[in-house]
Amino acid sequence: MNKPAILGGTKVRKIPMPVRFAFGNKEQAEVLKMIKYYKAKNEDPKYSGLWEKKFCNEFNNFMGGGFTNAVASGTGAIYIAMKALELQPNSDVLISPVTCSGAFSCITEQGHTPVLVDSDKNSYNITLEQVKKRITSKTKLIQVTHAAGEPVRDIDKIVKFAKSKGILVLEDCSQAIGARIKNKLVGTFGDIAAFSTMYRKNLAANSSSGLVYTTNKRKYFKKILAYSDRGKILWNDQLDLRDPKYSLFPALNWNTDEFSCAIGLANLRRLSNTNKKRNYFLKKLVSEIINECEVCYPYNYHEGFAPFYFPIFVDQKKIKISKIRFAKALQNEGIPLGEHYGCLISTWKWARKYLKDKFVSKNALHARNQCFHLYLNENYKEKEIKDIVKAIKKVEMYFKK
Ligand SMILES: Cc1ncc(COP(=O)(O)O)c(C=O)c1O
Repeated sequence: MNKPAILGGTKVRKIPMPVRFAFGNKEQAEVLKMIKYYKAKNEDPKYSGLWEKKFCNEFNNFMGGGFTNAVASGTGAIYIAMKALELQPNSDVLISPVTCSGAFSCITEQGHTPVLVDSDKNSYNITLEQVKKRITSKTKLIQVTHAAGEPVRDIDKIVKFAKSKGILVLEDCSQAIGARIKNKLVGTFGDIAAFSTMYRKNLAANSSSGLVYTTNKRKYFKKILAYSDRGKILWNDQLDLRDPKYSLFPALNWNTDEFSCAIGLANLRRLSNTNKKRNYFLKKLVSEIINECEVCYPYNYHEGFAPFYFPIFVDQKKIKISKIRFAKALQNEGIPLGEHYGCLISTWKWARKYLKDKFVSKNALHARNQCFHLYLNENYKEKEIKDIVKAIKKVEMYFKK
């Protein structure tokens, strides 16, 4: 039998997997264009500048309309979005079980209480049924994370239900930028949306950055702008906004910069293609895994995904080793993956005392414990599918009962 690399055998994938380069030639060219522009004007690149405008306008077009503000991080985008909604102090905020600690901290740092919601079975995403189970009399907001590139299947129903109860919905689209439900993009369902566009995301605008988005200009857009920059009335270009006397209220500075926005603009122009190529790869891989593998089976996949990482389940009843050991064996074959995902609120000891109650998201925990996350990007092609499936089959064969 073919000895796995983790036990000293030869690895399946001898050359590294293709890299992505979110900061590619087009991004570099756009940064140089921006630098030239400011040099010609005899100015330093400022914030709220031309490239921020271009980036936000093109993002609005990508979303099919709406209003965008580019900011310094995804966490900042969620923070600003929540501030713009102006929740009553000490509200309960429902939160998805699989999300970033930044999203969780935006709730606690604004003096609200996070209420954990469980996911659907074998999924990281919440459902209407799970939301209904966790609504409290103080719930004013539902933070819905579209995790793992998968659009939340019930998002429309969750938004309708929330509306009927006077509850707001914030979509966190950081892990699913460009994902769709019946051709409607995530981020356009709820009252407000936040996107991390840090360097690993499908849309990457430099090392750290984020976007706040809404379709409701009248209610939220000016608030978004003011909360993003010290309460300034950024929509008024007649005033000297360096003077804080014109500010509306106290607020932090979450400004991004022209370098990030130039990179983001060029990266946005290839986002549809990025997602298309990732879906092409994933669709084929999923079908190969279903047809060829005995122990591993894929996460529920459809073409509305904006693939980010991809969970693959391991049927632990069929193998002699743990899932983590199995995943490590695959890594040793040259397949980049995360063996045990950490972005699961129920596993954070430090978070317990902030949560509304002792509720544990059992479905999300179970899903996490059964799977590893395949890392992928738009440069993964047929050869990568072949090697991934070959590596899985090799490790399965060796360790199966
Ligand atoms: C779902 C989700 N929300 C929020 C964030 C926070 O974004 P950032 O790292 O840009 O602050 C991330 C990722 O990092 C994320 O994956």
